[in-house]
Amino acid sequence: MQKTKSGLDTSQFIQDITEGLGNKIKNIQSKYLYDHIGSQLFEQICLQPEYYLTRTEASVLTKYSTDIINLTERRLNIIELGSGSSTKTKILLQSLIKDHDELYYFPIDVSHTILHDSIRKLSSDFLNLHIIGISSDYTIGLKKAAEFINEQYHVPDRKLVLFLGSSIGNFEPVEAISFLQMVRDRLDKNDMFLVGFDLKKNQEILNRAYNDKAGITARFNLNLLARINREIGGEFDLESFNHHAYYDENLGRVEMHLVSKRDQDVYIKGGNKTFSFKENESIHTENSYKYDLKQIYDLASDSGFEVRQNFLDERGWFTLTVLSPM
Ligand code: AVI
Repeated sequence: MQKTKSGLDTSQFIQDITEGLGNKIKNIQSKYLYDHIGSQLFEQICLQPEYYLTRTEASVLTKYSTDIINLTERRLNIIELGSGSSTKTKILLQSLIKDHDELYYFPIDVSHTILHDSIRKLSSDFLNLHIIGISSDYTIGLKKAAEFINEQYHVPDRKLVLFLGSSIGNFEPVEAISFLQMVRDRLDKNDMFLVGFDLKKNQEILNRAYNDKAGITARFNLNLLARINREIGGEFDLESFNHHAYYDENLGRVEMHLVSKRDQDVYIKGGNKTFSFKENESIHTENSYKYDLKQIYDLASDSGFEVRQNFLDERGWFTLTVLSPM
């Protein structure tokens, strides 16, 4: 199987891109935003003053990590889906490690490099933390972690699974249900699932968060075209597209687009195809759904969970929700 420079299966990438750009309403799947450059840009987005999500979630973790842990039983394993740099998880680990002699942490991330870096840093910060990194997608990673836990008799069998950062918002609502059901199927009755949801709020705050002044989100979005150029011989002129992101109140989501500044044709060598763009025609690149508490309760019950508790920041912008299997 031929791989692109970022280790992707080339033919799958070509197929997805040519299919998405061939649609009447052009789109590219948001997972392709995260090559090594995209992942670095995302880390920078998290530091932007307008992007309140990361800071708000961290403040909730700082304030409530003891309460969250008190909901769980002692002798706990932590499994994190999409662990990335694990920065926020450190807050929880710090609280946990105080009354655990030993703790097992299973970070799961598709990016081998990011996983490797975060494991290196965490091992020097936490000496009695056993870190078992799993480089794979969530479904396989969770299965592997659960198998490891079940097979090792000396490892405590309680699991706390983390899915932070409002990543749930990047799933379509039906996908969010099947994702939660998949997690539910791999948990036992006394395990728990902690999910970060970005909440519905004033649309100006949302629009600002996805249009930071420094232009990092714009670079993150445009990197998709640069990636197509780098990896499958695309001939996109990045100057000819604008980043466009806005909150759609009816759909309850922030949509991210790349909008063509003019009529143009773009050839992609890998797919041996040319795509025509009209002036102002857009490529839809991401949805980021915002939830309200009622939707969270519905999502939980549709997927076999019950809401144990919501931990919100004082402005009511973000919730860390503890779910337990029904
Ligand atoms: C990763 N995910 C939760 C981010 C979000 O807010 O939907 C991705 C992102 N897109 C633009 N800015 C950040």
